[in-house]
Formats: sequence, C-alpha cells, structure tokens
Amino acid sequence: METVATISAVRERVQAWRRAGARVVFVPTMGNLHAGHVSLIETARRYGERFVSSIFVNPMQFGPNEDFAHYPRTPHEDERMLADAGCDLMFMPDVAEIYPHGSERAARVEVPGLSRILEGEFRPGHMEGVSTVVAKLFHIVEPDVAVFGEKDFQQLTVIRRMVTELCMRVEIVGAPTLRDTDGLALSSRNQYLTAAERKLAPVIFRTLTAAAARVRSGDADFASIERFGFQELERAGLRPDYFSVRRAEDLATPSADARALVILTAARLGKARLIDNVQVARPGD
Ligand code: PAJ
Repeated sequence: METVATISAVRERVQAWRRAGARVVFVPTMGNLHAGHVSLIETARRYGERFVSSIFVNPMQFGPNEDFAHYPRTPHEDERMLADAGCDLMFMPDVAEIYPHGSERAARVEVPGLSRILEGEFRPGHMEGVSTVVAKLFHIVEPDVAVFGEKDFQQLTVIRRMVTELCMRVEIVGAPTLRDTDGLALSSRNQYLTAAERKLAPVIFRTLTAAAARVRSGDADFASIERFGFQELERAGLRPDYFSVRRAEDLATPSADARALVILTAARLGKARLIDNVQVARPGD
C-alpha cells in the first residue's frame, strides 16, 4: 500500500488503474480505524479491483464546541490496518490540501431538509460539512463505487441524495454496522467512555432492539415507541438527544402503513456522544 498526501498523487495513481481497466472502490474515513472500518474495506472487495481509503479529520463537520482538536489520531496504526486489509492507496491530506482558503470560506454542498433534521438539529452544520468533504473527495478520487457504514445512517442517506441530486456517477454502497459482543456499535468515540460508562453503553442497542421488536409486532404508535426509547436511555443515566422512528428511505416521519423503517438515536454518556440505529421491516397486510 502506498500513502500519499496530495490530490495530484491520488489522481495519478487512480488514472493509471482506470486506464488498466480496474474498478476503483473508495472508503472515506477520519482514521483511528477499528474493525468496523476494516469491514468496509472487506465490503469494498466485492465491488472492484483497486481500493482507496482516505484519512482526514474534517474540520468543517465539527461544531465549535466539539472534539475536533481531541479526535483520536493514530496514523501509523491506521496505515498498518489498511495495508493488512488489502487497501492499495491511503490518502492522508493535511487541512490546507482540502481547504486551501480555509474551511470557513470553502464552497459548500448542502442537501436541504435531510441535513437539518436529527443529527443536523443537534449538530448544526455537521451534515453540510460531511456532504462538502465527501463531494470534494469524490472529485479527487473519482471512484466507481464508495462504501459507507449504516452505523451513520443519516450520513449515508444524505450522501445518496447528494449523489443523485448532483448527478455524480459514483455508486454508493451501504455496509452493516459492526458491533462488540455486547451490542455496542464500534466507534472511535467509544474511547471517551470510562470503564463504568462502557458497561452502561450497550443499553443503546438493547433499547433500539426492544423498540424494533414493538414495531415489528405491528405497533404503529411510533410516538409512544419514541417516548419509551428516550425514557429507557434516561433511566439508564444517558442523556439522549433524540430517539426517533423514521421511514428508512428518506428519514421522513412514517405514516401508519410505512413498511421499511429505521429507528435512530443519539445520546450523551459522560464525555461521549454516541449514535446508533436499527432498520426494521413492518409486517405487510
Ligand atoms: P468515520 O467516523 O471515520 O467513519 C468512516 C466510515 O466508517 C463511515 O462510513 C462510517 O459509517 C463507518 N463506520 C463507523 N463505525 C462503523 C461500524 N461500527 N460498523 C460499520 N461501519 C462503521 O463517517 C465519517 O468518518 C466521516 O463523516 C466521513 C464520511 C469520512 C466524512 O468526513
């Protein structure tokens, strides 16, 4: 695996592969890689012959009081993990390479509506920062396929919409969430938890699973299911931002006859803010 830091070096490598007829698959990340990220590379293998991953902690998607400065950075371990996973190229630019005029003054990409709800409500500007950097990375790498985790379900939905709206040629693939044995979704932010908080954290997935079971059994009182989930998390000592039942396709509030749903939550626990979701299919008539 080769590691490069410039846009021109990425373009050179990718163009050579494409001339040789290879399909190029891209996995963008912010580094501090764990098995969840590695599983995206494994998914990527099914879609092409050459694999590019980026490691870039994107300042535009962090709010002023968020953890940009403290976000864990482990470039050497990341490089080893990507190489072991069979990645061909690791793109690790500095901030000036991506935002030559600073991230504040950069041109922006926004998906109105979808980017303002849920995460967008509690992290203003976050989704816009994500769609902007992903659009830039797509223009740099020009992949045939890009893989994103369902762990960040709203992010995946925003990116799919951006690609459609802006007529981008890349195919977007969603990959399942990798979890620890107790159900906690793997996340770089799990490191912010103390040992006691880590023991508590699986309540998030347990509560999502319980809510999904209610939906699956035919309960269409989504407001009551949302209250149940929110209160369960509070009772366990977490501080939930939202616990919401949505239509999987577009994150709209579902009607009683909606079939494909997703239950999404975000909750604070100690210094960490954790997000998770489960998809659920409701029974047909
Ligand atoms: P990051 O949080 O590093 O995640 C990179 C990719 O890994 C995302 O697609 C995310 O959904 C996926 N991922 C994270 N945890 C996962 C898990 N437990 N199982 C499966 N996939 C998982 O998401 C971002 O970075 C950024 O917002 C980015 C898209 C790179 C733009 O800056």
